[in-house]
Amino acid sequence: MNIAIAKPKLGRDSKAFLAKKHRMFIDGKWVEAKSGQTFPVEDPATQETIGQVPAGDKADIDLAVAAARRAFEGKAWSRMLPADRAKLVWRIGDLLEKHADEFAELEALDNGKPVTNARRDDIDGSIGMFRYMSGWATRLNGETIPVSSKGNWHCYTMREPVGVVGQIIPWNFPLMMAAWKLAPALAAGCAIILKPAEQTPLTALRFGELLQEAGLPDGVVNIVTGFGETAGAALANHDGVDKVAFTGSTEVGKLIVKAAAGNLKRVSLELGGKSPAIVFPDADLDKAITGTASAIFYNQGQCCTAGSRLFAHRSIYDKVVEGMVERATKIKVGHGLDPSVELGPLVSKEQHTKVAGYIESGRKDGAAIATGGHVIGNQGYFVEPTVLTKTSRDMKVVREEIFGPVVCVQSFDDDDLEAVAKFANDTEYGLQASIWTRNLKTAHTLARKIKAGTICVNNHNYGDAAWPFGGYKQSGWGREMGKEVMENYTETKSVAINLG
Ligand code: NAI
Ligand code: MG
Repeated sequence: MNIAIAKPKLGRDSKAFLAKKHRMFIDGKWVEAKSGQTFPVEDPATQETIGQVPAGDKADIDLAVAAARRAFEGKAWSRMLPADRAKLVWRIGDLLEKHADEFAELEALDNGKPVTNARRDDIDGSIGMFRYMSGWATRLNGETIPVSSKGNWHCYTMREPVGVVGQIIPWNFPLMMAAWKLAPALAAGCAIILKPAEQTPLTALRFGELLQEAGLPDGVVNIVTGFGETAGAALANHDGVDKVAFTGSTEVGKLIVKAAAGNLKRVSLELGGKSPAIVFPDADLDKAITGTASAIFYNQGQCCTAGSRLFAHRSIYDKVVEGMVERATKIKVGHGLDPSVELGPLVSKEQHTKVAGYIESGRKDGAAIATGGHVIGNQGYFVEPTVLTKTSRDMKVVREEIFGPVVCVQSFDDDDLEAVAKFANDTEYGLQASIWTRNLKTAHTLARKIKAGTICVNNHNYGDAAWPFGGYKQSGWGREMGKEVMENYTETKSVAINLG
């Protein structure tokens, strides 16, 4: 396995940010945790500590929720004209664009992901999210309702911001997950407490500085760094929070639902996946192989949409496996800050141990390892891109989300699309599926039959700010992006006027 851990080179701005003492952002001020505690942030490629951030907990969440409530009710935010809110949200995108290279570097360093991907996908994706969502600020209109009640009525609806929102996000796309959550909530006029993942808090904190520069009123966005069991749980449980938006594991998603029961706060969830990628014999095989390899190896396999179950028709199965193996062995692995690197380390020791454990369980259950199968070196959390064959539906590696660069390939020999849909749907998840074919009927028929929130034909991991995204079954509740996300951050108020 080809691996080069070059000494990371950082630009001046990233270095300056890393040299700072990191604080949390509450009520427009940069503060330490009430407890005074901090925790270390690690470069997952070298295991070096690259900073300390405040370990916020319930006491800090209480302050942040109170600040968000004041901001939500306060004139500066609640009376801001929609067009001015739109301008503000747009301006945040502009500021991000100005600092794009710095953010890409910090993301690559903190998460481990290749800086080239971070710049292209995470940062540009976040900029695009603020620009797209800014337009919704001026478009949240209600409707007049032609009612049939006796009398003379004028009935209409209004859309109002849902209120104080807790947003708990994961580490796989740290800034982009913040953008997916913050941009629509700001466009709707909510006030927010954002809790970044403990593994990757840096870009959220740097982003807080941009929010301040953009001129957001104090308390509209509060950023509390801390652990899930303390800060996250306090936010999900808080009676002062009207809505919680969560992205992360299905396991914690269920805890969020329980915590929300206290005050019946609204909940939206983006959870795990075990997405099928299905390759038919009539597909452009070169593109299908490149595309399905990227579906699982992109972001080290740490994508909720990762194409972790690859189904290849029997007549092309050997070719597909061979192509995947070739792609896996050619991937350049190394420190994410090296612009030529395609696969970085996993985010943490925990994920490294977990993914290695899954590979081991596949091996024990009788899967064959076509390539990969090992962790790499003894520094950093690297894992070989791994292709497992001879896998079957009952194996843990086929049923559970691995969240690493590990794909299970299975063959199918049934041309009945009903049967194909059945094995694609043989999972408790339903986030995404990709279908690789040149046949329109196959594509559209399967798009209808597969129970997943997003269907990609001749591509995988598609995303766009205007394209609604979310899961069926245990992959979540609600949709992010597109106009659908505005449902997450607004309440509909119905007004009936008796005109007598
Ligand atoms: P996690 O679900 O524990 O963490 C996600 C976020 O939730 C983090 O901000 C964390 O601090 C917070 N959190 C954790 N426990 C909480 C609690 N009790 N109350 C409130 N917030 C809480 O995910 P983790 O442990 O980092 O990764 C475990 C597995 O989850 C991964 O191997 C992967 O399978 C899955 N995952 C899925 C993601 C997705 O995009 N759907 C993203 C990250 C992880
Ligand atoms: Mg966890």
